[in-house]
Amino acid sequence: MIELKGRKIILGVTGGVAAYKAAELTRQMVKAGASVHVVLTEGGAHFVTPVTFQALSGHPVWTDLWDPRMGNNMAHIDLTRDADCIIVAPATADVMARLVQGRCDDLLTTLCLARDCSLLVAPAMNRQMWQHPATQRNVAQLVADGVTVLGPDAGEQACGEVGMGRMLEPEVLCEAVISHLENKRLAGRKVVLTAGPTFEAIDPVRGITNSSSGKMGYALARACAQAGAEVVLVSGPVAMPVPYGVERISVHSALAMRDAVMSVVDDADVFIGVAAVADYRPAEAAEHKIKKSGEVMQITLTPNPDILAEVAARPNPPFCVGFAAESRDLDTYAEGKRKNKRLPMVVGNLVQDGLGQDDNEVVIYDAAGRHPVPRAAKHNLARSIVKHLAELLAAR
Ligand code: CTP
Repeated sequence: MIELKGRKIILGVTGGVAAYKAAELTRQMVKAGASVHVVLTEGGAHFVTPVTFQALSGHPVWTDLWDPRMGNNMAHIDLTRDADCIIVAPATADVMARLVQGRCDDLLTTLCLARDCSLLVAPAMNRQMWQHPATQRNVAQLVADGVTVLGPDAGEQACGEVGMGRMLEPEVLCEAVISHLENKRLAGRKVVLTAGPTFEAIDPVRGITNSSSGKMGYALARACAQAGAEVVLVSGPVAMPVPYGVERISVHSALAMRDAVMSVVDDADVFIGVAAVADYRPAEAAEHKIKKSGEVMQITLTPNPDILAEVAARPNPPFCVGFAAESRDLDTYAEGKRKNKRLPMVVGNLVQDGLGQDDNEVVIYDAAGRHPVPRAAKHNLARSIVKHLAELLAAR
């Protein structure tokens, strides 16, 4: 992952049980390429020691406003000077109250006041503390002050009660940080995508499908959401979690995929067909399980509609992007699909290069020619594809 490469992030950890999850958040942001600098409040240090965060971040941990390690003794200013954002996770009711008042009674709140970057807070507290009018007032004020409030979530709490107030999981917070820092090149746009294989029933327990993993489609849906788009992902059967900020409609057959796409594509700015839609389905699916007879069996197949071609042929089509997975003659077939389906852009790849894998190598085809994108992890490829399509869309 390189999505946070070159980013400097200040992670503020305050005194809540969820502080243990901040250790995992540190690890995830470091894994995504960020340089993470942890600031622990006195309360936070009661839950997790600085040593843990130092080991995970590879940087000294800051706890004291008067820390002499900073050459000019101005940790409260120097730490955030070149930071991309501050995320306070967990954020207690107390720290939020202090942020609202602009208090500077410890290093973290002073940093937040002296900052030159955005601030995100991930509240974590008992449900009654969360529901208290004072906390709700403070949250509303933080939002009005331009602070991004992430969560909290509902569920079981450390105190044994169940309700609103759990901190969002570290992976969700890491996604939110990536998303927050990403260029919003698709802001205000609605993107509809298809992903994964389809499953064409033969009888109630059998069917025809293919080996598409859905990884590329899911990576693209996530990249579009991070680029600020409203994203609807129409997905065939795959075992993958819904990407952060994406609405998923789950389907099985090509016909159901087509109906789902047509129900949401009217106001879409972009349609991306990534799904490996079955070109044929059994003409009739048996109502009951077919019993073995020992005889040769034939299944009559009938063509499925081409979802992408149908969307592209609409009177006012969205910007349509197709995928061409070929086993040979990539240029000829991909460019052929672009022209036949009247698409402004096609992403082509050789199946032997990437099917089911985490990385791939693709070529983007558009009216200006072919643009090879070197081998990379699918989520990085997805970002390159989104950048390319956003440029074409903007130039339309
Ligand atoms: N596609 C679609 N509906 C179909 C078949 C394909 O929307 N019934 C879309 C795919 O999502 C992809 C593009 O069309 O974006 C090309 O799919 P592909 O299977 O590679 O090509 P086909 O048009 O089906 O042609 P062929 O199978 O002969 O290569």
